[in-house]
Amino acid sequence: ALISMRQMLDHAAEYGYGVPAFNVNNLEQMRAIMEAADATDSPVIVQASAGARKYAGAPFLRHLILAAVEEFPHIPVAMHQDHGTSPAVCQRSIQLGFSSVMMDGSLGEDGKTPTDYAYNVDVTRRAVDMAHACGVSVEGELGCLGSLETGMAGEEDGIGAEGKLDMEQLLTDPEEAAEFVKATHVDALAIAIGTSHGAYKFTKPPTGDTLSIQRIKEIHARIPDTHLVMHGSSSVPQEWLDVINQYGGEIPETYGVPVEEIVEGIKHGVRKVNVDTDLRLASTGAVRRFLAENPSEFDPRKFLKETVSAMRELCIARYEAFGTAGNA
Ligand code: G3H
Ligand code: 13P
Ligand code: ZN
Repeated sequence: ALISMRQMLDHAAEYGYGVPAFNVNNLEQMRAIMEAADATDSPVIVQASAGARKYAGAPFLRHLILAAVEEFPHIPVAMHQDHGTSPAVCQRSIQLGFSSVMMDGSLGEDGKTPTDYAYNVDVTRRAVDMAHACGVSVEGELGCLGSLETGMAGEEDGIGAEGKLDMEQLLTDPEEAAEFVKATHVDALAIAIGTSHGAYKFTKPPTGDTLSIQRIKEIHARIPDTHLVMHGSSSVPQEWLDVINQYGGEIPETYGVPVEEIVEGIKHGVRKVNVDTDLRLASTGAVRRFLAENPSEFDPRKFLKETVSAMRELCIARYEAFGTAGNA
């Protein structure tokens, strides 16, 4: 059944687990996520980015998610719009039937320019007023995603600040977070702790200086009743980088957010964990390997099936690690 994200995260908070929110762009991702949820008895958050809406079209994404609900009626699903850049964008998603939206007021309508606190409060508050009137949940964001090593946001296309960020934007301030939640009534709050979107998060395995789980603890201590959201939470599995590079890919050395650090965050209020890049890496690795090993195959279903099983195994691993399993 389609449920609101608030309901799902309240349950997660009560029982102390986290829910991965996987980005969805195509049928294969949707199937992989649902088969993994079915195998582990997990609730599901699927989210559509602006890039996904551009790629597949919002109606196709909507029906893909509704098809998932129809085929797996016993699994609770929240249909979430990722990184909305204005109240108007959120409104369109609400009209399309999304049960949850993100109003990312940390960046302007271009998805690139960092904004000030007053702007963020204003757009988020407006989105919350509208969404709550329709029974739709809202995720806000305070602070800007970006590397504590370089001050850069990472992702080049899509959502991400352009240019170098100020150090103080890269770590969400606990006091400001408390004010923000009070002023906007968001259901969940995305925070900045040193992660960034995409595959190039850390040039070496992260330490407390580059990934601040400490900051999560400080924010959670200040606003214990707010559901925290970690963006840029792909772990960038070295096994998949190796497969991609072994079969003709060229991805330089890079590191993601270790699963055990996310698990530590979940112990301190993180309830939604955004993962997109890991599914992309698994998918690409599976296609490269299959086509290299089966050069005479040309039926796309053969290699797309490989992407489904690669992504399904990854989703199962996250559902188990985050404690989502068994909570559908
Ligand atoms: O917001 C970041 C997500 O990874 C979505 O990326 O805009 O390329 O679909 P995208
Ligand atoms: P990754 O690029 O780490 O998968 O993050 C995805 C994300 O935060 C989507 O909003
Ligand atoms: Zn994000």
